[in-house]
Amino acid sequence: MKKVRLNLGCGPFKEPGFINIDIREDLKPDMVCDLSQGIPFADDSVDEIRAYDFLEHIPLGKTMFMMEEIWRVLKPGGRLDAQVPSTDGRGAFQDPTHLSFWNVNSFLYYVDGAFRNSCGAKALFKGSVEQGWSNELMQVAHVHVLFYAIKGQEVPIPTSTNKYGADRNTICATLEISTAKTVIQGGVEVVKPEK
Ligand SMILES: C[S@@+](CC[C@H](N)C(=O)[O-])C[C@H]1O[C@@H](n2cnc3c(N)ncnc32)[C@H](O)[C@@H]1O
Repeated sequence: MKKVRLNLGCGPFKEPGFINIDIREDLKPDMVCDLSQGIPFADDSVDEIRAYDFLEHIPLGKTMFMMEEIWRVLKPGGRLDAQVPSTDGRGAFQDPTHLSFWNVNSFLYYVDGAFRNSCGAKALFKGSVEQGWSNELMQVAHVHVLFYAIKGQEVPIPTSTNKYGADRNTICATLEISTAKTVIQGGVEVVKPEK
């Protein structure tokens, strides 16, 4: 059966093999849609979602709804491939069209038991989150997420011990920050997990 792949907020970059969706009609996407109102696909119907430089265009207060929508439409094990500018760099704040602000920790709320409970998130993913400079000169950093939707599959859910922040080993195990170097200067250091 043909795989269903969505490219959310495709902009001018239409990806072959994907249903390219954008709110802007002038860009001639395959589907014009305001995704902040929901993803117009049935539950468990999508194999893969790509969201590059899109989530930060969803208003604060709707970001959890957007992550829940992504999880809802993905099949069990379906893949989310997303990247967002990190608040650990300037990119998150420099663009006047950005409506929400993300960093590595933002994704804990959809993978870690304690963080999920703190906001009542239904979405559950497993995967990896990485962060690195995308343009060091301009001090722009991006978070790259590769998540798989967990729906009824038996997997251990990591749970941090402290609601205000996990210890180093838990957070590394939860997010598997595999390639991040010390990307933040004068701020929080993103550490590599201890293998
Ligand atoms: C920075 S561009 C990213 C384009 C492309 N994905 C890329 O990798 O460069 C963000 C895109 O998201 C679209 N967008 C913003 N808000 C949206 C919404 N509520 N629903 C659908 N698309 C939206 C914008 O029109 C824009 O094309």
